[in-house]
Amino acid sequence: EVWTKAGDRLKSKVLELLRAHKGKPVSGQEISGKFGVSRTAVWKAIEALRTEGYIIKSSPRLGYELAEEPDILGPTGIMAIAAASGYLDDGRFYPQIDSTNSEAKRFAEDHPGQSALFVAEEQTAGRGRLGRQWMSEQGTGLYLSLLIRPEIEPSRASLVTQVAAVATAEAVEAVTGLEAQIKWPNDLIVDGKKVCGILAELSAEMTAVNYLVVGIGINVNQSDLPGEIQDKASSLRRLTGRKIDRQTLLRAVVERFGHYLGALQDDALLERMHQVYRLKSATLGKEVRLLGKADRTARVLDITKEGELLVIYPNGERERIHFGEVSV
Ligand code: BTN
Repeated sequence: EVWTKAGDRLKSKVLELLRAHKGKPVSGQEISGKFGVSRTAVWKAIEALRTEGYIIKSSPRLGYELAEEPDILGPTGIMAIAAASGYLDDGRFYPQIDSTNSEAKRFAEDHPGQSALFVAEEQTAGRGRLGRQWMSEQGTGLYLSLLIRPEIEPSRASLVTQVAAVATAEAVEAVTGLEAQIKWPNDLIVDGKKVCGILAELSAEMTAVNYLVVGIGINVNQSDLPGEIQDKASSLRRLTGRKIDRQTLLRAVVERFGHYLGALQDDALLERMHQVYRLKSATLGKEVRLLGKADRTARVLDITKEGELLVIYPNGERERIHFGEVSV
């Protein structure tokens, strides 16, 4: 693909450097020295960024300064976010794709050992949990998948959905100022309405994980949601009354995910992550209806570190629930 050319890599490195010096100019000489390329190559990269909508001020004496980022998702921004993550090898952007989760799985088969970020502006066959579809109209939502290859046993793999829920909740809170809660197992809700869903998929042998694909869909700038989900779902824009910069949110999600990812291997970090999960839980301590279990109601006593729901029925009977859905 075009954007894996050397020039595009330089472009995303330059972007990353300018971002790191936001508000301060960086000289052309410093950039060319840092990446071992000519001043002309630097200038070309700057021009290419400008055509993508980045506003870059330049002065012959001081150099280049990033003044404004566009709210479009594009290859350069996605690659830069992946590069800055510290745990992803690659970042891929698609104007349109069937599903970023499906694409991540195809990529995983063709690129052994690699981890990557996949972001689409639009999905034509976005997938949700329990075989549902995920509305993925162009330009308003954030549709991303993370392909990772942790060295863990399959029994620990499901922890990754909690990592994603906690990370996304923190990112949403940091970027919007809203308070996000986690509805078991891993929906994000704000003011009782769903704003984000997570779909994790696993490829494993009996004793080792091959790879994990974690798909995250966030309703960001939708001004209206389809009638059938209006009373259950909302968007960050509707909830804050302002447009949210999707790239800023994406960057925060990827960063927070990286922060908690170690919980898959490290019990101390798992403990901390689980604390945050419980604090943000909209389900803990509540009376819930267990959908699909003859709609029985029960009280949620605990959510275990493994992500199971521990419930007690009115007749005193207790149960651990691994999988499913509840309504409050
Ligand atoms: C759910 O709540 O049912 C989970 C929804 C997950 C949607 C995201 S959007 C990006 C990624 N690609 C998909 O096809 N699904 C996930």
